[in-house]
Amino acid sequence: MDFSAISRVKITHAPTPLEFAPRLSDELGCHLLIKRDDCTGLAGGGNKVRKLEYLLADAQNQGADTLITIGGLQSNHARQTAAMAAKFGLNCELVLEDIQGTPKKDYYHNGNVLLDNLFGANIHKLDIGQDCDIYAENLFKKLISHRRRPYLIPVGGSNVIGSYGYIRCANEILEQIAYQNIKIDQIVLATGSAGTQAGLLAGMIAANSNIPVLGICVSKSTQEQAILVEALLRKILVSLGLNPDLAKDKVKCNGNYVGGGYGIVTDGMVSAVKRCSKLEGLLLDPVYSGKAMSGLIDLCDQGIIPTGSNQLFIHTGGSQALSAYQEVF
Ligand SMILES: Cc1ncc(COP(=O)(O)O)c(C=O)c1O
Repeated sequence: MDFSAISRVKITHAPTPLEFAPRLSDELGCHLLIKRDDCTGLAGGGNKVRKLEYLLADAQNQGADTLITIGGLQSNHARQTAAMAAKFGLNCELVLEDIQGTPKKDYYHNGNVLLDNLFGANIHKLDIGQDCDIYAENLFKKLISHRRRPYLIPVGGSNVIGSYGYIRCANEILEQIAYQNIKIDQIVLATGSAGTQAGLLAGMIAANSNIPVLGICVSKSTQEQAILVEALLRKILVSLGLNPDLAKDKVKCNGNYVGGGYGIVTDGMVSAVKRCSKLEGLLLDPVYSGKAMSGLIDLCDQGIIPTGSNQLFIHTGGSQALSAYQEVF
């Protein structure tokens, strides 16, 4: 398949920088490079911009006038979808679930919620445990009956189309490390709805690269997450005309840093966010990149990530949620 022929709107500020983190590297004992996907541009940046380039093009091809998506109340994906809709003159309906156990002082009005409202999105706030998928499907049907043309983006933008954004990112990384003449031993990133890790792996496989990609889970156990990522990876490979069995043994996840669950604060996350801020002037987030970095730090401390190895951390964004968690910091 000619990957470059797939419809896409060009929004991402790419290539995003690949930066060395010298002070954090000194403390961790490894050579740490950070892929700044928090700097993708739209709405403060983050990983979803790359996915939305493909999803929005698909929505346009289908003649959509409204984007619907789903997430937690402080979803970064929802914020970036709302901005994308605003930029392209579409309506945006966000189905957002309250998350049990998250700090509540600023959760309902600050952070991403404040920005969703600025982008003009219509927020449907669901109670803890209410089923977002069913609500979104009903909303979809209701909009159709009102002669609107909705386009439903799954949670995290994680379907085959959205994941194409991370095939592009894989190619971007491979070009950057070739140009900078660096050997990378491992890529580390936060993994949730799975499209970022699956797309990245698909890009690596398609390019015949064997760099391991470790997903630090933000919501599921190691095994549950690996199953989710591999299922999506297989579908992406099929869509590219590649053998889905190339996915075998490629998916590596670590569920030891989730703590109490999605969006729930861990000591390791708080410490990782503070450490990166103070050592590198780098803002992580409380739900994804903070937990992923807490995993990377702990794996270095335990010696599981070898001293002197070259690690590439993909900063997937999310610092817009920090103010919703202010009492924690
Ligand atoms: C900041 C941030 N990092 C990482 C992720 C995880 O990406 P994925 O859902 O594709 O696994 C998300 C998902 O919303 C995110 O917002």
